[in-house]
Amino acid sequence: MTFCRDEQVWIPESDLEGMSVDTLAVRAGQIRTGQLEHSDPIFPTSSFVYGSAAQAAARFGGEEPGNIYSRFTNPTVQAFEARIAAMEGGEKAVATASGMAAILSTCMALLQSGDHVVCSRGVFGTTNVLFQKYLAKFGVETTFVNLTDQAQWQSAMRPETRMLFIETPSNPLCEVADMAALAELAHTNNALFVVDNCFCTPVLQRPFEHGADIVIHSATKYLDGQGRCVGGVAVGPARLMDEVYGFLRSAGPTMSPFNAWVFLKGLETLPIRMRAHCDNALELARWLEQQPAVAEVFYAGLKSHPQHELAGRQQSGFGGVLSFRVKGGREEAWSFIDATRMISITANLGDVKTTITHPATTTHGRLSPEDKVQAGITENLIRISVGIEAVGDLKTDLQRGFSALET
Ligand SMILES: Cc1ncc(COP(=O)(O)O)c(C=O)c1O
Repeated sequence: MTFCRDEQVWIPESDLEGMSVDTLAVRAGQIRTGQLEHSDPIFPTSSFVYGSAAQAAARFGGEEPGNIYSRFTNPTVQAFEARIAAMEGGEKAVATASGMAAILSTCMALLQSGDHVVCSRGVFGTTNVLFQKYLAKFGVETTFVNLTDQAQWQSAMRPETRMLFIETPSNPLCEVADMAALAELAHTNNALFVVDNCFCTPVLQRPFEHGADIVIHSATKYLDGQGRCVGGVAVGPARLMDEVYGFLRSAGPTMSPFNAWVFLKGLETLPIRMRAHCDNALELARWLEQQPAVAEVFYAGLKSHPQHELAGRQQSGFGGVLSFRVKGGREEAWSFIDATRMISITANLGDVKTTITHPATTTHGRLSPEDKVQAGITENLIRISVGIEAVGDLKTDLQRGFSALET
């Protein structure tokens, strides 16, 4: 059977209206070809053919919608974009080659030389470097403030501030921002409020409901969930996403169709995975709090967490990432990490496999010593992205770390 575009069936979004994020994760955005396959098809093609020269001209000229070239139109990528947009409750999504490419594309499309950004200090280390080193080269200046200190946000605002950028909960200290308050601050100053929703995913938190203008994801993390592919996505209103799409079309930080397919498969199990991550993380956080070799545990699900109540209002679960300080410094942290046997020593997070990281020398290693101090990235800090293994087995493995500290 020859495929032609007219046989491609998009399941109408209207049929899914009002359905829960659990259903949208499995169903939204799906396309079906004339073969009527049940699983999502992959279109590993760089370009598309036309019925005539006139049709090619109409496609290129934008008079006729349809596929042109996979740098900016690919049906598998579009299916992923439609699904994540539906789950976040946003109008339109633009998928990118990585989470960093989603942040870069958003900034390149929506900021210009002379603009000012206010960003929370506790963002992913590379996000910090992107703002501080690269966007600065093009005349976009960034002020870093403490995520939870509203007065600092307020006083950092300038007439030329065009964007407020946060992660909540933050990486790796799990601080929680008051999104509604920051959205109000952004909007009264004619700035965009951008939320990196990587840690919670739309299953646990939907930032548009709290005033966000744009939601960013590193799809590499929970959206995939099994550590297979690197990718990213920005979601927002069409008037903003059309600009981001325009940048993607011109600059090419594009998601591959294969990766989009993997992310589509990942999204199908996202809701049940997130609940399992949350359950395990809460139990481990409570257990870690009782360990004599632990100085401090950071997890918003703990009653001791300063934004526990706010997190409970904004999130439907506390997430799968926690961090803690062991008593001592780098030597103790590294000994602890090295003594674990099952848990993977890797900087990735959001995987079904539990991972352990020393942020000060990996994810946040490129921050200056002062920035590390300001962001609370101390040498004795360890981050765990809690997977979905049996929690008792995770404790057994972490106990090996504690035993190493006793010797
Ligand atoms: C919160 C957060 N945002 C963005 C990124 C960047 O994503 P990627 O590695 O897909 O470029 C990461 C990566 O670890 C992250 O943790």
